[in-house]
Amino acid sequence: MNLTTRINLILGVTFLFGLAIVGVNAFLLTRDNALQQVTDQAELIMQQALAVRSYTVNEVRPLLNQIGDGQFHPQTVPAYSATQTANLVRKERPNFSYKEAVFNPTNPRDKATAIEEKIIDRFIADPELTRLVATQEINGVKSLYISYPIRITNPDCLGCHSTPEKAPAAMRAVYGDDGGFGWKLNQIVGTQMVVVPYTLPAQLARKTFFNFILSLTVIFVILFVVINVTIRKLVLKPVRRITRMADEVSKGNLRDAELKVSGKDEIAEMLIAFNRMRRSVIKIVQMMRRMQVEAKARAKARPKT
Ligand code: HEC
Repeated sequence: MNLTTRINLILGVTFLFGLAIVGVNAFLLTRDNALQQVTDQAELIMQQALAVRSYTVNEVRPLLNQIGDGQFHPQTVPAYSATQTANLVRKERPNFSYKEAVFNPTNPRDKATAIEEKIIDRFIADPELTRLVATQEINGVKSLYISYPIRITNPDCLGCHSTPEKAPAAMRAVYGDDGGFGWKLNQIVGTQMVVVPYTLPAQLARKTFFNFILSLTVIFVILFVVINVTIRKLVLKPVRRITRMADEVSKGNLRDAELKVSGKDEIAEMLIAFNRMRRSVIKIVQMMRRMQVEAKARAKARPKT
């Protein structure tokens, strides 16, 4: 195997090894980044919904309760205001959603889907669980959801959600007696769910990852070419010149000009040393030839006996 092949092989293996390590890291980093971004987005929507709920209870409900027109105003219900405002956002961003999903809802639109029922079951099974974050794919659309359990901790809730008899007549007139009742204190009745799209961030993360790997490969290819050209020019060419010259000297050809030396690196030192050695060889050879000639001359001059 020649030097270039050997160096290129070492470079290639090093690159592949480095690419594998950097690639795995970059993949995990871009994926975690995208997940973190989307989770933050979902968390913000959740906080917004919780804020709307508090605003309804603390500021809207007291005022609406003063009307006293005998009508039930759903605007006094935090679940209603949070869902309504989220639905307004949804008109602009159809893939974002907020829902207070329960097994047995007062408003049928809040009925938990099969997926949501499974999430509620997980909260019921594990009372310590306060938050669930996961990605899901429905009909090829990736999304991320954050869900909190809805636990009845305030006895006031039971004024409308225990039995129809206890609920305000005006409310029953609007919602009927079928859903939203039978809830108990400390029971987990449902889940607050925020769903945000994940397809685009996932695509962006993948694009960032591939761009990074491509850039790394391009840098390597450039480096590969530069290293090859440099080795050829700085090492292989002078080494070949020395080999050719050594070849000629070994065949007895001493007439060629000395090797040209440029620079001050190790290769230049080697060329200088080689030139010096060649000069010594020439001197020795010339000396020997002279001695040979003299010996012949002496032999001729000696009188024959
Ligand atoms: C004055 C009556 C009233 C009280 C008190 C009340 N709710 Fe409700 N709640 C309703 C009505 C009415 C709805 C349906 C609103 C709508 O149309 O979206 C509802 C809806 C909900 C929903 C959404 C699911 C569903 O049933 O449609 C949840 C969750 C909920 N309430 C939880 C609570 C909790 C928790 C409390 C106590 C902090 C509470 N409610 C107190 C009347 C009430």
